[in-house]
Order: sequence, then C-alpha cells, then structure tokens
Amino acid sequence: MSLAICPGSFDPITLGHLNIIRRSAQIFDKVIVCIMVNSSKTKPMFTINERVEMVRKVVGRFPNVEVDTSDGLLAEYAKKYDGAVVVKGMRAASDFEYEFQMNLINKKINPGLETMFLTASEKYTFLSSSVVREMASYGADLTGFVPYEIIDEVKEKAKLWRQ
Ligand code: PNS
Repeated sequence: MSLAICPGSFDPITLGHLNIIRRSAQIFDKVIVCIMVNSSKTKPMFTINERVEMVRKVVGRFPNVEVDTSDGLLAEYAKKYDGAVVVKGMRAASDFEYEFQMNLINKKINPGLETMFLTASEKYTFLSSSVVREMASYGADLTGFVPYEIIDEVKEKAKLWRQ
C-alpha cells in the first residue's frame, strides 16, 4: 500500500494545502496529513487541537485521508511508516531553497525517506497561511483562500488574534 505524509503547520489550512492533499490522495492509496510545529513561526493563530479539527472538517470528503499530529521531527515521525513518502507543495522558486535544505536534513536523519514535490496549482501560487492570517486580521473576505467550512472560524479567531 502506498502511503504519503503531507506535513505542515496548517495555521490555518488553505485551499492551496487542500489542493495538494486532494492530488496526493489520487496518487497514493493513503495520505496522512500531519500537523506539525514549525519553530520559525512563533505567533500561531490556532492551537494544534483547533487545527486538527479544522483539517478533519475539510478532509472528511476524502476517504483515504487521515489526520495526525506530531511535535517531533518529520524524519523521525516518518520512520513509523515503512516506505512512506513525504509530499509537499512547491509554489515558486522562493520555496525551493528552503525545501531543498529540509529535504537534505530529513535525509541525514532518515536516509530512506523520499520527498516528492507537487507544483502548486497556478491559482494558489500566491497563497499561504500567513497571507490568510494577515487578510483575516483586517476582516477581508476569505472566499477562495480557505475552505468554506472554516471561513467563519478563521474570521472569528482573527478578531481575537489581532489584539
Ligand atoms: O506549513 P509549514 O510551516 O511550511 O510546514 C513546515 C513543517 C511543519 C513541515 C516543518 O517545519 C517541519 O518539518 N517541522 C517538524 C520539525 C522538523 O522536522 N524540522 C525540520 C528539521 S530541523
């Protein structure tokens, strides 16, 4: 059985993330969306539990996608699943350097671990969770940025987060 791990901080999940998850679910028998900590992102909007709930809400439509969390290293997490492939989205050349470095670090820790990159759909190349947080904090319309199921939740949270 082929297995993909889609890791990320998902703070919050965007339509760009969902596009990568959907395409991974078409390629692999099973996909685990793993909500992890990005230590460079120091001011999260949502708790891990809130992110899990939001991601579960929007991936419920895909029967072969599960949600998990880890506060450890991705390369260590992947050791639990023999043959699993990490799948990440690549939006632009600006993503490449960081992702290339992460890939090399992950390989040092877990040499058998492969990472595949799916190029972001053109309509989402501008999109990131940080753009969503910024827009939400100004009360902007989030249609077309985050899945409709979580729009109200992100807007509500943004009101508190900005203060
Ligand atoms: O959505 P993001 O913030 O770009 O996702 C980055 C993430 C969470 C996948 C990355 O920071 C990560 O792998 N975190 C877990 C800790 C880890 O393995 N760090 C890389 C080696 S130091």
